[in-house]
Amino acid sequence: MLTRRTLAALAGASALSLALVAPALAEPIVIKFSHVVAPDTPKGKGAAKFEELAEKYTNGAVDVEVYPNSQLYKDKEELEALQLGAVQMLAPSLAKFGPLGVQDFEVFDLPFIFPSYEALHKVTEGEVGKMLFGKLAEKGITGLAYWDNGFKIMSANSPLNTPDDFLGLKMRIQSSKVLEAEMNALGAVPQVMAFSEVYQALQTGVVDGTENPPSNMFTQKMNEVQTHATVSNHGYLGYAVIVNKQFWDGLPADVRAGMELAMVEATAYANGIAKEENDKALQAMKDAGTTEFHDLTDEERAAWVAALEPVHDEMAERIGAETIAAVKAAVSQ
Ligand code: LMR
Repeated sequence: MLTRRTLAALAGASALSLALVAPALAEPIVIKFSHVVAPDTPKGKGAAKFEELAEKYTNGAVDVEVYPNSQLYKDKEELEALQLGAVQMLAPSLAKFGPLGVQDFEVFDLPFIFPSYEALHKVTEGEVGKMLFGKLAEKGITGLAYWDNGFKIMSANSPLNTPDDFLGLKMRIQSSKVLEAEMNALGAVPQVMAFSEVYQALQTGVVDGTENPPSNMFTQKMNEVQTHATVSNHGYLGYAVIVNKQFWDGLPADVRAGMELAMVEATAYANGIAKEENDKALQAMKDAGTTEFHDLTDEERAAWVAALEPVHDEMAERIGAETIAAVKAAVSQ
């Protein structure tokens, strides 16, 4: 994993590598970076920043092509494409690693496990984050960085103030068993669906509601088809930037060093803007006036916590009790 500590080392190495990377190689190495959200989101902006910096720090030896908005692949397909080498870089949400056979990542989906970005960063920037990337390596995937999005809000076409309000609602979720358990615990009917299909599904009533951080909700215009939302901050949504290990290890060392430096800086940038982007998106949706936003009272929040707490134990076997304990220990440090 690339941490701030490696930045200094890489910065030194990069001055050297910049001098060593031949300027303007005839055929740049193409890095296709596919993702499913809008360019104007924390992930979209992080990807654009990485493109700019990687090309700069490798002296044009790489050509990063960013494909936003599921232009190339939808959620599940993009992971297959990475394994097949059809794309080189992705940043799937941490809720989507189950199909790779690394269920531990679903720990990030546990309700109310992270009280703040600071608490979350103790995991993603610490030993637990490294340990989780170690599990990816066993699957032929190299984890380069954790990128933030934010804390999720719940939306539907009816008020969602208490757990009872979810009874029988069809709620779109990402492909995570923890999120499935979360919706079941609320009495809702979870439906896994690719991100690119959510707006239409909400519009046509295929599903009644969903959960996402404000930046995703706003840039997909979901607020136009949801009359109510609750700023519950009940769960976190973030990303792991990943590459095919064989591809990454096969790159010339100087090119890889330039890209590592670019990733460290793009990560600091993406994580630096995530909260603000979400705050702005929430305000923009409030200003748009199509959705009524509700903040949980203390009493309501306590009811949500009580309803969702059992998901932690229920999912311990799937995620791994050790992983859950390690995350909780890091958070409470
Ligand atoms: C979702 O499917 O709701 C999110 O994972 C989309 C994303 O990449 O932020």
